[in-house]
Amino acid sequence: MMRDLAMADTPERPGPAGLSRKPVIRVDIRSKSFGAVRVLQEIRFSVARGETVALLGPSGIGKSTLLRIVAGLDPAFHGTVTRPDRMAMVFQEPTLLPWRSVLDNLRLIHPDVSEDEARVILHRVGLQGRETAYPRTLSLGQQRRLALARAFVGQPEMLIMDEPFVSLDADLSDAMLSLTEELIAETRPATLFVTHVRAEAERLADRICQLRGHPAALIA
Ligand SMILES: Nc1ncnc2c1ncn2[C@@H]1O[C@H](COP(=O)(O)OP(=O)(O)OP(=O)(O)O)[C@@H](O)[C@H]1O
Ligand SMILES: [Mg+2]
Repeated sequence: MMRDLAMADTPERPGPAGLSRKPVIRVDIRSKSFGAVRVLQEIRFSVARGETVALLGPSGIGKSTLLRIVAGLDPAFHGTVTRPDRMAMVFQEPTLLPWRSVLDNLRLIHPDVSEDEARVILHRVGLQGRETAYPRTLSLGQQRRLALARAFVGQPEMLIMDEPFVSLDADLSDAMLSLTEELIAETRPATLFVTHVRAEAERLADRICQLRGHPAALIA
């Protein structure tokens, strides 16, 4: 059923542990076009601290376009987005620097993170002992875990993930999901993530939204 777009908003209510449920991400997009092609129509939603929202939709509908706008990577749209300062993004590809070690891939993005803190998170994601390795010597699953560690080590207030578990086999994808669940539970960012796997969305998300149509609208 098509719901009023405003209903996709996070109500400002106390959370389970009395934590504030005040939205930390507020998205109010009027329109997004590439040239003459309008890709997104009006899209409004918000995400509270500690809340995870999954975004589903067919290929080419505009999911990555929406994530890039929310992340502030694409300023060419009509509307407004409010976001916190500390944010992290996990892309579909691990996007590591090939000429930098595992440890440097973490610490270059987070200069305030100490080597000890970096080692702790690497241990969490099972990359202990690989600190001086280069990304090309890691498996895809290890590269994805490094990308996850890089996202969480900065204690983000907002986390954006674009199909972070794609092209992993079922076991590995399951292990990555569990790890992500744990890290989200500890760090409690406002999380927005794209997946095309409904089971992933149901497992990780408090709320599932779908993009439909051309230009795409949001269905809560
Ligand atoms: N830089 C760009 N210039 C022109 N058109 C673009 C650009 N980026 C995306 N598009 C178009 O916008 C539409 C939405 O693309 P987007 O990448 O957001 O889709 P998606 O939902 O993430 O798809 P997928 O599930 O395949 O990743 C597509 O029709 C795409 O061709
Ligand atoms: Mg995409």
